[in-house]
Amino acid sequence: MPIKFPFRNAKLNKTEQPIGLEGDHLPKHVAIIMDGNGRWAKNRGMPRIAGHKEGMNVVKKVVRHASDLGVNVLTLYAFSTENWKRPKKEVEFLMKLPVDFLNTYLPELLEKNVQVQTIGEVDALPEHTRHAVNEAIERTKHNDGLILNFALNYGSRYEMVEAVKQISVKVKSGQLTADQIDETLFENHMFTSDLIEPDLLIRTSGEQRLSNFLLWQLAYAEFWFTDVFWPDFDETLFERALYDYQNRKRRYGGV
Ligand code: IPE
Ligand code: IPE
Ligand code: MG
Repeated sequence: MPIKFPFRNAKLNKTEQPIGLEGDHLPKHVAIIMDGNGRWAKNRGMPRIAGHKEGMNVVKKVVRHASDLGVNVLTLYAFSTENWKRPKKEVEFLMKLPVDFLNTYLPELLEKNVQVQTIGEVDALPEHTRHAVNEAIERTKHNDGLILNFALNYGSRYEMVEAVKQISVKVKSGQLTADQIDETLFENHMFTSDLIEPDLLIRTSGEQRLSNFLLWQLAYAEFWFTDVFWPDFDETLFERALYDYQNRKRRYGGV
């Protein structure tokens, strides 16, 4: 029997009804494109970076809640390979966020048994960003609760091209034959090789596109969109997405 547990931290709008999540049918891996920080700030007459700062607090709320609910993996798109195109000051601010985030939040992550991981080309990040991230990975590596996976300097096309390069080198050196290349082998050369596939993709801010996020891994994920900007996202909306997921019928091409 599914366990029904009450809708917690409920800050319901008048139109919303309380919902019950089924505890044994949660998405195991939730991926989120946290979008709309800039517009959130602009609407308040504030600089874009104020939106990023507020967005960081929402990350904390959502991580806490995902961990409490028993989600296994939470992948958060924090910086794309295309985000380098932004003004230098904004990029610099974004590169400082992981430092601030981990300075203030690492103790709680440890207490909650969360394991920090990353996908993306982390080596190309500034030294202080890399340092903060690597320290968090190192200090949480023995934790076996929620996997908090940050996509940092991540681009799906880059990831796939890199996988092709690595496989080609192995074929050229005779370590592999072309016939041995299959979906499993390809997946094993992705940043996500150790993770289960995302079940649910959430994108905030009204945009309905992938923006180079997990193109391979999201092949059969359920998509959930909201017009709410990331700094206004909260536990209630997160649970709403999970609830909607639980009411989807996944067919994987079958009947
Ligand atoms: C998402 O918010 C955060 C990052 C991409 C780092 P945006 O900064 O894209 O905000 P909008 O989409 O411009 O409102
Ligand atoms: C996607 O958002 C990247 C992150 C959330 C980190 P963007 O704001 O960069 O995406 P586009 O430019 O609207 O497609
Ligand atoms: Mg955006």
